[in-house]
Amino acid sequence: DAPQTDPFEVARTAAAQIAERTGVARHDVALTLGSGWGKAADLIGETTHTIDAHEIVGFSRPALEGHSGTLRSVLLPSGKRALVIGARTHYYEGHGVRRVVHSVRTAAATGATTMILTNGAGGIRESWTPGTPVLISDHINLTADSPLEGATFIDLTDLYSRRLRDLARGIDASLDEGVYCQFRGPHYETPAEVQMAKTIGGHIVGMSTALEAIAARQAGMEILGMSLITNLAAGISPTPLSHAEVIAAGAEAEPVISALLARIVAAL
Ligand code: 6GU
Repeated sequence: DAPQTDPFEVARTAAAQIAERTGVARHDVALTLGSGWGKAADLIGETTHTIDAHEIVGFSRPALEGHSGTLRSVLLPSGKRALVIGARTHYYEGHGVRRVVHSVRTAAATGATTMILTNGAGGIRESWTPGTPVLISDHINLTADSPLEGATFIDLTDLYSRRLRDLARGIDASLDEGVYCQFRGPHYETPAEVQMAKTIGGHIVGMSTALEAIAARQAGMEILGMSLITNLAAGISPTPLSHAEVIAAGAEAEPVISALLARIVAAL
């Protein structure tokens, strides 16, 4: 985290450690599996190596139940290699944005050119019942932070690849898409904040992904973002939100959406 260290140098070191531990010189695609998406790791291919993420430089021990805390190297049926990141650092943990995007930069340093970012999130559209997967079409970053340092002016047009969204809809034509709003959290939004998100063009509220997508774009990766709607957002939902219900909804949807994600990965 020290400001005098180069975050890309740390990511290259992490990637070298992963290559050494797995014997895999290069990964093609990386997946960050958020709440409700974890089973996809078992469905996309054969896991040849599992690493406790905290043994790799820059990664911390899992702060949250439901996150595996592992990095896996998976051999896909196509012969490509996937790096599965089950160790997300959330912005709300307070370790700073560098830590949040370290896994993405590490994935890029392993050679991955495609970054799949998934999460569990709240829905603003009433038609999205818990368990609905939604493609992220764009985001609104409400953290007031950026993974970029200094005068790094990068374009974020089509940040969430149109090509990959179309590819996903080729697998499941019923997939909706929406604009993801990243809030800092860890509290859920107030109903007034949810109304604000809706007014400014948001459809999904969550606590991850946007900062990671910016870092992935900086690294030149093609990005697919998907949210699992675990609940309706505050004020849209008739009942108060509970973390336990969010986790339960994720667990219930997990087999279905993980299978969907595996079919998308197979089509890459
Ligand atoms: Cl309603 N908000 C946020 N920020 N994250 C969530 C959520 C809501 N539901 C699941 N994750």
